Amino acid sequence: MNDLLITNLSEVATPVGSEPLTGADQAKVRRLSGVEVLCRKGEIAGVGSREEIEREAGSLEAAQRLDAKGGTLVPGFVDPHTHLPWAGSREEEFAQRLAGKTYMEIAAEGGGILSTVRATREASEIDLIAGVLDRLDLMLAYGTTTAEAKSGYGLTLDDELKQLDAIRRASEEHPVDLVPTLLAAHETPPEYRHDKERYLDIVCQEIIPATSEAGLARFCDVFCEKGVFSAEESHRVLTAGAQYGLAPRLHADEFVDSGGAELAAELNALSADHLTAVSPAGVEAMAAAGVTAVLLPGTSFFLMKHKYAPAHRLLEAGVPIALATDCNPGSSFTESVPMVFVLAVYELGLSIEEALTAATLNAACCLGLGRSIGSIEVGKHADLVVLAAPNLLHLAYHYGINPVSAVIKRGKVVHQAKSS
Ligand code: NIG
Ligand code: FE
Repeated sequence: MNDLLITNLSEVATPVGSEPLTGADQAKVRRLSGVEVLCRKGEIAGVGSREEIEREAGSLEAAQRLDAKGGTLVPGFVDPHTHLPWAGSREEEFAQRLAGKTYMEIAAEGGGILSTVRATREASEIDLIAGVLDRLDLMLAYGTTTAEAKSGYGLTLDDELKQLDAIRRASEEHPVDLVPTLLAAHETPPEYRHDKERYLDIVCQEIIPATSEAGLARFCDVFCEKGVFSAEESHRVLTAGAQYGLAPRLHADEFVDSGGAELAAELNALSADHLTAVSPAGVEAMAAAGVTAVLLPGTSFFLMKHKYAPAHRLLEAGVPIALATDCNPGSSFTESVPMVFVLAVYELGLSIEEALTAATLNAACCLGLGRSIGSIEVGKHADLVVLAAPNLLHLAYHYGINPVSAVIKRGKVVHQAKSS
């Protein structure tokens, strides 16, 4: 594989390190001008002036060139919370919400997650893979190079495994890397509506062991929320997952404070996600345990609740913040990290630097990948995004457009915008 030299950059902007950044450090983004970046064997091999790189890495004569045309280089975005393998579509529910119904009311009537469960059970694995690949094409075009992807629309052993296998196969076929999460405890399926305990037995005694044995998931997630799974029930699922090698992360305190943040801290979860209704005690517990807050401002936006997670309280407490799309058909139908980035700045009140760290390094760390991706440093994977912008600030300043002009995955140019 040829070396790739990225030239004509106005700026390289990146967080630094392989550990999650917290507090004031979350804003410590390195911004370099007058530098080029060399990718070799899929890794970043040099960041500096041409002379500096040549001194370290030898002659660059044979290197392939990517002319960034005065753009800005940032790390490939890492999206640590998506629900990618689904079938069907829920625009009718969206219209009902526009007419005044709430997400939880729709769910209580058998719509919501369960309507996607019906469609996903009916879909073949091939259809699910096709849907995931379409979404991955969009994600890549918007700068995502690694994403987490959850099951959770199958809710039977076979249908959860079908979703997880679709994630595996789509990831093998596509430049975007997917990290799989089992979310069998996303909702109680209709056939166990009056016997939730039995469904939890199936999750803990059948679905978790089979998933682990098949090697189809890295993490175990649960929707810990009043009316879905309580903190006690979530504890049971996540503990069972951990016994089978699936590290815990959870949907916590999305609509009401349900003790999810405290549970995440107790179990040393890699992340607690949503947190729109997190309590002050929950924030403190997360800070003490070092749990990352994955914030999903696209979900607050899409649900039109005008209520966002308390990002500043989390930051001030020392909780590392990551950002994700929550890409799913019911509560946040977007593949776009730049859109989420804009919402994080405009609605969560993050600085542009804090948001960059949240969408790259901190997101990578909460997937256990901070040593290999999430920043532009020699030795890390060459997963990079060229923005058609003269500096980092444009990532939030120029909104509602796709700022990405090229995407590099493991040192190869895998996407170029038509105009670039
Ligand atoms: O993260 N909160 C639970 N699960 C998803 C919604 C899934 C759906 O509505 O289909 C979420 O928002
Ligand atoms: Fe979610």
